[in-house]
Amino acid sequence: MFNLSKFIPVSSQNILGIDIGTASIKAVELTKSKKGIRLVNYGILEASGHLERINDALQTSNLELMDSETASTLIALLKGMKTQTKDVALSLPAFSAFTSLLELPDMSPEETTQAMNYQAKALVPMPLDQVTIDWLKIGKFKNPHGNFVQKVVLIAVPTKQIRKYQHICQQAGLNLKALELETVSMSRALTEGDSSLTLIVDIGARSSAFAIAKNGFLIHSAQADFAGTSLTHALAKGLGINVSRAEDLKRQKGLMGTGGEYEVSTLMLPYLDVIISEAKRVIETHERTAQEKVGRVVLSGGSANLLGIEKYVSEKLKIPAVKADPFGTKVGYPEIATPVLKIVAPSLSVAIGLGTRII
Ligand SMILES: Nc1ncnc2c1ncn2[C@@H]1O[C@H](COP(=O)(O)OP(=O)(O)OP(=O)(O)O)[C@@H](O)[C@H]1O
Ligand SMILES: [Mg+2]
Repeated sequence: MFNLSKFIPVSSQNILGIDIGTASIKAVELTKSKKGIRLVNYGILEASGHLERINDALQTSNLELMDSETASTLIALLKGMKTQTKDVALSLPAFSAFTSLLELPDMSPEETTQAMNYQAKALVPMPLDQVTIDWLKIGKFKNPHGNFVQKVVLIAVPTKQIRKYQHICQQAGLNLKALELETVSMSRALTEGDSSLTLIVDIGARSSAFAIAKNGFLIHSAQADFAGTSLTHALAKGLGINVSRAEDLKRQKGLMGTGGEYEVSTLMLPYLDVIISEAKRVIETHERTAQEKVGRVVLSGGSANLLGIEKYVSEKLKIPAVKADPFGTKVGYPEIATPVLKIVAPSLSVAIGLGTRII
């Protein structure tokens, strides 16, 4: 069994954090020195084919990941970045996993593993011989009876998915040091050192991932099958134009169109509203059980760059929404890169969260 929580120590000062999405691969190389963690380089390689035919996606929800094609795309990306290490931490897509937040008596890690394997039998909606079970302790509190209780997230990932990622790394000549659920990585990157309850909404191309998190830990996650591609297709259909033209128009105008362009946002909003409704459901479910209010929303993923999205989401959810900044004060970068990193930062949340985990 591949234990997701364990990782093999890295051999150099540097680590690659790699996020393989449906539309693109995002990679960062981080280095650690006495001055702290710094970005050495980053790269994003987009595959435009996913817009026309879903089979061209680098990743599909039915786990048909095209290993050799993904490996060669990855090799090209890393070559372009002139990476200095082969050690890599890779993310697993949120849609491939099942997670559940549980409260258990505070006990040793060995006993917790046993308890989680037992809980998995009742909770995981997949055959247990086909999944890898893992867990993450996210906190501890004293209950009204004076006993310590630990909060633990149960994670189940199809073992087939893990093997595919191991295979891709092998083909790309990389040393796989850690595999982690993308919602776990983005929670670390976007909420570490922040004790206010946050909802991260990662809107990618094919799916949107939701993570309730604080202090760097994932507490609850969910996902929806609507994301950036849904918006592009809505524009293409509504305006009778091809998808690549619709993609350009979406990136150019976002939700900020006026006059004749007003239609652009009108066509996309029903799909964005589906994503926001799911976000609302996630918030309400969590607030009901945890009795703690979500204080802010962080928008991550490529679609967080949709012009005007923060304002729209803030108004709809009545909670302040901001664009993700995974660099924060933790990860330094060359001053000269500031303008470009401002734009790409929301796309790098997962990759940075992966890198900072093990460096
Ligand atoms: N400036 C922009 N405005 C609006 N949308 C954008 C912009 N830039 C990128 N996008 C959208 O972001 C999406 C890609 O985001 P991302 O790279 O996070 O996806 P992914 O991780 O490959 O996909 P997934 O997470 O669904 O597997 C695409 O749908 C793209 O159209
Ligand atoms: Mg993604």
